[in-house]
Amino acid sequence: MKKYSVPKNFQSSVGYNTFDNYQSLREKAKQDSNSYWESVAKRIDWFDKWTTVNNSDYSKAHIEWFSNGKLNASYNCIDRHIENGLGEKIALIWQSNDPTISKNVSYNDLLEKVSLFANGLKRAGIKKGDRVCIYMQMIPEAIVAMLACARIGAVHSVVFGAFSSDALKNRINDSECKLLITQDNGVRGLKFDIPMKENADKIADDCPSLKTVVMVERSGNEMFMKEGRDITWNQFIDGCSSKCPAEVMDAEDPLFILYTSGSTGKPKGVMHTTGGYLVYTSHTHELVFDYHQDDVYWCTADIGWITGHSYIVYGPLSNAVTQVIFEGVPNYPDFGRFWQIVEQHKVNVFYTAPTALRALMKEGDDWVTKYDLSSLKVLGTVGEPIKSPEWHWYFNVIGNEQCPIVDTWWQTETGGILMSPIPGCVPTKPGSATLPLPGIIPAILDEEGNEITERNTTGYLVMIQSWPGQMRTVYGDHQRFIDTYFSQAPGNYFTGDGAYIDEDGYFWITGRVDDVLNVSGHRIGTAEVEGAIGAASGVAEAAVIGYSHEIKGEGIYAFVTLMTGVEASAEIEQDILSTVTKIIGPHAKPSVIQFCSGLPKTRSGKIMRRILKKIAQNETDDLGDTSTLADPSVIDSLLEK
Ligand code: WT7
Repeated sequence: MKKYSVPKNFQSSVGYNTFDNYQSLREKAKQDSNSYWESVAKRIDWFDKWTTVNNSDYSKAHIEWFSNGKLNASYNCIDRHIENGLGEKIALIWQSNDPTISKNVSYNDLLEKVSLFANGLKRAGIKKGDRVCIYMQMIPEAIVAMLACARIGAVHSVVFGAFSSDALKNRINDSECKLLITQDNGVRGLKFDIPMKENADKIADDCPSLKTVVMVERSGNEMFMKEGRDITWNQFIDGCSSKCPAEVMDAEDPLFILYTSGSTGKPKGVMHTTGGYLVYTSHTHELVFDYHQDDVYWCTADIGWITGHSYIVYGPLSNAVTQVIFEGVPNYPDFGRFWQIVEQHKVNVFYTAPTALRALMKEGDDWVTKYDLSSLKVLGTVGEPIKSPEWHWYFNVIGNEQCPIVDTWWQTETGGILMSPIPGCVPTKPGSATLPLPGIIPAILDEEGNEITERNTTGYLVMIQSWPGQMRTVYGDHQRFIDTYFSQAPGNYFTGDGAYIDEDGYFWITGRVDDVLNVSGHRIGTAEVEGAIGAASGVAEAAVIGYSHEIKGEGIYAFVTLMTGVEASAEIEQDILSTVTKIIGPHAKPSVIQFCSGLPKTRSGKIMRRILKKIAQNETDDLGDTSTLADPSVIDSLLEK
């Protein structure tokens, strides 16, 4: 595999310029991990210094950093920049779905908005430790709401705006949120009235903990408002003071909960705490994006996912960034939208998902070349491996061969980026997240938990040592935290990904080793989709498999058996799609539904997914060993289709 050296004209602002810089930093962090993280932690303002750097113990699944340190995340993302004379600096350039509308929010503005809303929360009875749900699209109020929670020590739980009302309900109830912040309608692409408030209305009465619903007026459409429960954003802050001192939080006080899919059961409430998370996201944002004070930064993620939390809100804002936040979609009003925005706002650092690049690449280069993209300096990707075609397109057509590509590997659980090239230091290889960041110690293990030292041999990717941004627990279910992450390979953090190391020591992620799908960079559990399909009328059983999809990376292929007497039909197919949309959301809809008379099962009743995978991938020449099937004739009927 060809190695791409750092583009010649690339000048690092952070000051790491050679591969030796990287290696010595990595070595230093390895030799004395505590001093390394201690020096990193100083980038954050602490009200009180910590007494111990790292109190984590993997043998007990216990993660704890910067013990007894006191700080506030909102203070670090706003107030301290103002104290440093950056009050007038633009924090957010909000680019509306409408290309003619954008709005700047300075750090001074942000402080005022956050303080007002924080006081509104207090007046509504929200206290330190209470959970607040945020169900919004990409508008500045979403970020204001998150920071206002952090300011008073409330724990936010952001639910991605495309999730259905059922999914919203389950998340509100799991963490017993007292207050929900939403907007009347979402506005994205050609959709001008995405039903946000209506979705909330459908389930609010089924959420016993929920007392208040705050609604931003985005579309201005008339909405039902329930007396005593619902209130508009403006009414909510009306009469509040614009001064709100930041609450003193312990390093290990929860900052937020974010739900993510696992291989079994309901989504997990991944819990992150204040000190370690903020240190880690702030540090990695600077290091990986070579962040410089004058840069304009743009991450196209949604705040509903961890990328939005770490690399739109907490990392960038703690570094006093000027950043674009975008309400719309890449193909509205046309396929040039991303590049038009880059030109308009002179974006220097651009961070997106490979699935978006694939979708745009296939529309041709003319959408790109008509814009001036010479401001670009670093290009990042996240969510799945960036494969060779889109890597080269990104590097050549978007970056004009001048920009290092940072393929960042990480997870909701890791809080921040664990593996990525450091621009200026680490030569890249298309498809590899290259090397761990300093202080991160990965290993590849075999089935028995022994380390695989041979090169190019795939095994389970684990981390053998904690880092400050690591999740602390599954909200309300610490046993699930232990079972999911610390039981497969005791003494290590189990990532759920497969990987191998090549002859240069570079890491290649081969994908999930559990039943988790990655559809357009969205993480979806097969069990969740199967459960949702099973709820459609007439369905007996479903098995869901991921298959290679040109744009989505992975598409959802559903094998469905129907109840006796029910015939497969277009209506049932429609009903399955709408049921999945209702229970999870449109992003979890299967791309292919195959009705079948039976599923391939072992004698003990376990579905042989391996066989279904081959059928979904159209690799039916060799189905492998089928001798343990309870009913081998099932295969023939599956292949008939
Ligand atoms: C899973 C985590 C991290 C924010 C977005 C997704 C896959 C993520 C990469 C990458 C190969 C990647 C992994 C991981 N993944 N980034 N650069 N190369 N795979 O967060 O929803 O928690 O999903 O996404 O399989 O385990 P997430």
